[in-house]
Amino acid sequence: MLMIKINQKPDNPFKHKTECLILLCPEEKKPGGIVKEVDAALNGTIATAFKNKRFTGKLNQTLLLNCRAGLKADNLVLVGVGKAKELTAEIICKASGTAANLAEKSNFKSASVYLNGSCFDPADSNYGDFAGAVAEGAGLALYHFDEYKSRDEKDDPQSRLETLTLVPATKTPQAALAKSIVRAEKIVRAVHAARDLVSHPGNTATPTYLANHAKKMARKCKITCKVLGKKEMEKLGMGALLGVSRGSHEPPALIVLEYFGAAKSKAPTVIVGKGVTFDTGGISLKPGASMDEMKMDMSGAAATISTLQAVAELKLKINVVGIVAAAENMPDGLAIKPGDILKSMSGKTIEVLNTDAEGRLVLADALTYAQRYKPKEVVDLATLTGAVIMALGHQAAAVIGTNPAMIKQLKESGKATDERVWELPLWEEFDKAVKSDIADLKNIASPGVGAGSSMGAAFLKVFAGDQPWAHIDIAGTAWEYEKPYIPKGPSGFGVRLLIHYLEHHKY
Ligand code: BES
Ligand code: ZN
Ligand code: ZN
Repeated sequence: MLMIKINQKPDNPFKHKTECLILLCPEEKKPGGIVKEVDAALNGTIATAFKNKRFTGKLNQTLLLNCRAGLKADNLVLVGVGKAKELTAEIICKASGTAANLAEKSNFKSASVYLNGSCFDPADSNYGDFAGAVAEGAGLALYHFDEYKSRDEKDDPQSRLETLTLVPATKTPQAALAKSIVRAEKIVRAVHAARDLVSHPGNTATPTYLANHAKKMARKCKITCKVLGKKEMEKLGMGALLGVSRGSHEPPALIVLEYFGAAKSKAPTVIVGKGVTFDTGGISLKPGASMDEMKMDMSGAAATISTLQAVAELKLKINVVGIVAAAENMPDGLAIKPGDILKSMSGKTIEVLNTDAEGRLVLADALTYAQRYKPKEVVDLATLTGAVIMALGHQAAAVIGTNPAMIKQLKESGKATDERVWELPLWEEFDKAVKSDIADLKNIASPGVGAGSSMGAAFLKVFAGDQPWAHIDIAGTAWEYEKPYIPKGPSGFGVRLLIHYLEHHKY
């Protein structure tokens, strides 16, 4: 999807010509710094708003003023960032998203953000990050998916904010700003790509579509992509993944993306994504209400592919492999039935007691395949359980794994990006609950055991290998994870979290 254009132009805020000048403003009793100076040009309009508590700089609070008389800008948008002392890049990202949304809703085609004073100090080491967060927040907020809408401007006049200009006071930070903008654009493009994949309906985004998308992306980013089809899976004995796909006319795909930014001898981080392009539940059919939402059951795959895209575009000096297990879960004459036993690539047999617990089946073979890379660590992203929504709502993803250091680091990245992860346990007792009476494992725990998300993880652990491994259940956050920079619909959750993790973690 077309993205907002972001550029820079050093200028004086009083002389800067724009449809809409945006100022980020900390929470205060009365206007201070640059806001105070601008207020003087506007004859105290802002001070009055502070006095009347119409605007005090609280996070994401906004004030839109027409200001043609006082400034060269036609309009002024103030957006609050909360307490100055608590300011972070993530807060700026949110405030910028809020301002961009307001500018777009107000029918402006372009807007400018002033990057000097109050929140921005070019002499500060965080200046580049903060400026990048402005670009990222606006870019992420203004996501639109209208590929399936016929365009008739008369019936549906669509207003889009097309350009955002970052306005520093002087030319000094030009190079730093250029870098921040390019970086933000790469991240925004990757998140948009993930959201697009999830937005597409199941009859477009099939396993083959995901594979073709990954190939195209890999070619563009100069990374390797190979796709294993049904025949190769049969050769490898991927009975679990093949079992899920048996009921579908859409062929399955195992998509493997390889990025080497460090010496090839260095063990890679492997990211594994659940790519169930539509989950009907199979023979254990889901209820009809809201079944359409199950087009999002490939959100882990979308985040995996897009994380590889961002890693390659950002040229990180690490090795990362992405593996996506893509299949469609359908009821059919050929579909697997409750009670069927599948043999996974690992050799372990699985009694399928519920065909709707298909995510762990496709992931089992993908996790086994990951072992070929002798990974340093494995992280999987999956819309695995409805139970995670019972536990955490739509406020956080669950992280469940074998390595406390890895989980700690993921939590820190979750905090920094506000792609929150909350740890759920992987107690030994859970191991027993996924043992089958007649096969090695069963794909659902015995009735009454509860802890559905942990049970999913206990099953996956069998295939995850001995290296550190973390499972992230994004069933609650891949959708309905709305924020100023995440509109309704798919969130792209996981991309920003993992990029931050890959850039910062060391252990
Ligand atoms: N794709 C679903 C999980 C899901 C639920 C994702 C809601 C997004 C929103 C998964 O395949 C599933 O159906 N899981 C079952 C597991 C159960 C049968 C053990 C579930 O959560 O009910
Ligand atoms: Zn399911
Ligand atoms: Zn599913």
